[in-house]
Parts: sequence; C-alpha cells; structure tokens
Amino acid sequence: MKRFFLALLCAATMTAMEAKTLVAYFSATGTTKAAAERLAKQHDARLWEIEPAEPYTAADLNWRNDKSRSSLEMKDPEERPAIKRCTDVTPYDTIYVGFPIWWGICPRIINSWLDNNLPQLEGKTLIPFATSGSSGIADAEAYLKKTYHSLNWQKGLLMNKH
Ligand SMILES: Cc1cc2nc3c(=O)[nH]c(=O)nc-3n(C[C@H](O)[C@H](O)[C@H](O)COP(=O)(O)O)c2cc1C
Repeated sequence: MKRFFLALLCAATMTAMEAKTLVAYFSATGTTKAAAERLAKQHDARLWEIEPAEPYTAADLNWRNDKSRSSLEMKDPEERPAIKRCTDVTPYDTIYVGFPIWWGICPRIINSWLDNNLPQLEGKTLIPFATSGSSGIADAEAYLKKTYHSLNWQKGLLMNKH
C-alpha cells in the first residue's frame, strides 16, 4: 500500500515537473489554435488562448481593406489591442507563443500580451510559432527579437503543415 502511494506521489511530482511548459496563442480563425493544440499535446504543456477583449469580426480581418481594424492596427506599431484575461506566466520555464502571420509579422495583440507580462517573461525560454497563408516566420522572429531584445527567444516554428 505504502509503495502504491509512493508511486502515485512520484507520478504526480513528475507530472508537475513536466507541466512547466505553456503554449500561449492568439488565433483569429482557428488555424493557429489547431497548431497550438498539437504543440501542447506533443510537449504535455498547458494551453492558453490569448483572447482579444473585442473579438475580431470577418470585416475586421479584411486585409484588402486598408481601413479595417486589422489594417489600422498593423499600420500603427504602438497599437496594443486589449486582452480579455491576464495570464499567469510565473509557473512556466518554457513558453511557446503562437499567432497567425499578419502583414509578415505578429498581430499587435501579441505585443499587448508580451507587454502585459513583462518583466515576468525575463529569463524564460520563449519559442514563437505561427501559421500563415504562405509567409515564413523569419520576419516575425526578427521583429520580436528586436522589439523585446531582453527576452530569451529561441528559433521559431512555422506550423502550416500538420
Ligand atoms: C489581417 C491579416 C493579414 C495577413 N497577413 C498575412 C501575411 O502577411 N502573410 C501570409 O502568409 N498570410 C497572411 N495572412 C493569413 C494568415 O496568416 C493565415 O490564414 C493564418 O493561418 C490564420 O491563422 P488563424 O486561423 O489562427 O487566425 C493574414 C491574415 C489576416 C487576417
């Protein structure tokens, strides 16, 4: 019996130790969400959706309209769309940060999330991941490294293929 409880305790401790990875993502139309779910499963990680306080409508996402919400946000580097709920990043050592590529880089809501969680993100391992129509992740990686140069960014993952 004692052995059984000991084994149970070890298993619980192991799970707690492994659960130090977080997959935080923003997804406007579900593609990045699916990629985030795959990553979380693969790494036995917690999953966290970065949700905008005001959800994006189809009209907001119309990149052909230079007056749409997404176009206006992406034109202004200082834009920081509000986020619905705060994330507690303190328990995690490694954090995957996911997003759809918008105009070659990350949507401004990712800046909002990073800004909200500085300086708790200092010293943690951050791995960007993205989905896109066709663009690579290199420009988004370079942008994040430049904008948040004190953070420990690792090589990013483009997750367009299942
Ligand atoms: C406003 C906007 C801008 C986009 N810009 C790009 C882009 O520059 N390059 C690209 O390959 N795809 C671009 N896309 C396509 C998305 O990156 C792609 O559809 C992504 O997988 C959507 O992810 P989601 O379903 O998680 O929102 C853009 C989409 C939107 C809505």
